Amino acid sequence: MLLQTILTALAATPLHGVVAKPLHPRQIAQPGPSNIETEYNISIQGVLDNIGGGSKASGVYTGVILASPSTQEPNYSYTWTRDAALTMKMIVEDFIHGRTSFREQIQLYVSTQAILQTVSNPSGALGSGRGLGEPKYYSNLTRFNGDWGRPQRDGPALRATALITYSRWLLNSTDTANHDEANNVWDVIQNDLIYVAQYWNQTGFDLWEEVNGSSFFASAVQHRALVEGAALGKLLGKDVSAYESQAPNMLCFLQSYWNGEYILANINTEPGFNRTGIDANSVLGVITTYDPEASCDDSTFQPCSDRSLMNLKAYIDVFRAIYTINKNATATDAVAVGRYAEDIYVDGNPWYITTLAVAEILYYAKAQWANNDIVITDRTLPFWQYVYPSAQEGTYKPGQNETDHLLAAIVDTGDSFVDKTFEYIPEGGGLAEQFSRENGAPLSARDLTWSYAAFATMRNARVAALDNGPSVQSWGAPSKLARFGTCSPGSITGTYKPAVNAGAPDTAPPCTVLITFNLNATTFYGENLYLFGNTSDLGNFSVNDALAGTAKEYTDEHPLWKFVVELPPAETVEYSYLRKEPDASVIVETVHRAFAVPGCPADGSLGDALVEDVWVAPGK
Ligand code: NOJ
Ligand code: NOJ
Repeated sequence: MLLQTILTALAATPLHGVVAKPLHPRQIAQPGPSNIETEYNISIQGVLDNIGGGSKASGVYTGVILASPSTQEPNYSYTWTRDAALTMKMIVEDFIHGRTSFREQIQLYVSTQAILQTVSNPSGALGSGRGLGEPKYYSNLTRFNGDWGRPQRDGPALRATALITYSRWLLNSTDTANHDEANNVWDVIQNDLIYVAQYWNQTGFDLWEEVNGSSFFASAVQHRALVEGAALGKLLGKDVSAYESQAPNMLCFLQSYWNGEYILANINTEPGFNRTGIDANSVLGVITTYDPEASCDDSTFQPCSDRSLMNLKAYIDVFRAIYTINKNATATDAVAVGRYAEDIYVDGNPWYITTLAVAEILYYAKAQWANNDIVITDRTLPFWQYVYPSAQEGTYKPGQNETDHLLAAIVDTGDSFVDKTFEYIPEGGGLAEQFSRENGAPLSARDLTWSYAAFATMRNARVAALDNGPSVQSWGAPSKLARFGTCSPGSITGTYKPAVNAGAPDTAPPCTVLITFNLNATTFYGENLYLFGNTSDLGNFSVNDALAGTAKEYTDEHPLWKFVVELPPAETVEYSYLRKEPDASVIVETVHRAFAVPGCPADGSLGDALVEDVWVAPGK
């Protein structure tokens, strides 16, 4: 309350009364609490409307979180593991802070995710764990066979985090039924933690589903999940040695994203990747691994750390020059920001989640400085001069006058990004995915669940920063496990099991076999090859559900198309290949092929087999 009062006083006093140094010149006409509360309520309703059973989620499995009700340009009527988990993280936090009606949504999330974990898909199946990296499913919980950037390895970690937060609440309660529930939820969490411990060091697609490599966002959320997962598992009396052994390796690896000036969003990328690496990926990664009890720690990239502040400044500045709607902004104004400068998706625009993320990260940093000195160094001075032009190097302790001015300027800057976002929120308060870089009009998917969830977490962060209200839960960033790195590229293989007590069907095959189909077929640029067959894994001979091949190893001498598919053991499948032409026409092979999938290795591990085929007919 005190800070709120100070802020209000500062805003109301043009001469700034007792303030020794001139405040930041930016004037916020409306610090906006009432606007924010209105939009917050719209956002919570916006989230609920998009969950199966909600008013904009017709045909969606009850409790499944739709990305957006938009069915064309773009079609977002799927459930993404990432979007759903980030949304659920917000819902769980709100539940813990007293919104008891959210419990039902949380329990439906547990049971639908338990089911989804068992749905085999183009990334793989549960038995090998590989299927957990699938980014999205149809909203009726069936597999999506279409071409996509997969796997995406942030999903299991984010889901674990949402469920761990809920489980800690269950365990803290005195009701033993809640403890039983925590044990059931653990079975879902455990699959995700094993996945992280096994695959964290393998490349995958980033959160924007475009870049194959290592993604800061994914690595940061994976590290968080293992640290808090180990702590929760211990409370439940589980063996957590795998998570404890990998978390330090991941902390070491996380450091490789820092280039001395900003966080590189993507590393270990493929040849041809050509971006600066400045990307909302890192800002969102910092937000998602914020720990209210942490110090301004560089190694876990906490919001108030030097690294995060330098990165934030670099990130904001990129968008000043490139968007028309920012062209009148001065060097100290807030601007609309997007994913990354080189973005071309829908022509590359500012996004609601990213512009709100700047505010959220600043509110979190402000809260951390309640217990930590602000240390302005030559590295962070440019950041500080952006929020507070007269800032100088030095150490500012909590409670000092100048510290309060710096903190007020931080909140002021955060508010300016919220106000900037409000300029582009249409009448009625709906939040789409993007707004036009040219004129600010909403673009791409309407009513994006993630946009609403992002507004809600920003609002909660602001309340916590200003009122010293309840904050998000600590994940253990200050704990010993999260502070010591060991630099080995380890991986631990575990056993994945359907979380039957949490709602999963017990029908998944205990093991699968990884089949590589090598097809020798000459194609021309723009012509693509697909595989389909007589089982649901192979798309039931439906052209739309055929599996895309890759031509990465294709050469003129060796026209190789590759298909990698995980199939249940000991079944004979029928299949054919087909070509999709640049004009969208389809040429289906006239031959019907058959292949007997071998049984699984005796030790239950993932078996494999290689099939060599040659395109037969028609033609080519
Ligand atoms: C859809 C993805 O969701 C989006 O992030 C991406 O930019 C486009 N596909 C283009 O690859
Ligand atoms: C595209 C975004 O790039 C991706 O991050 C998101 O998961 C999907 N849209 C669904 O909202």
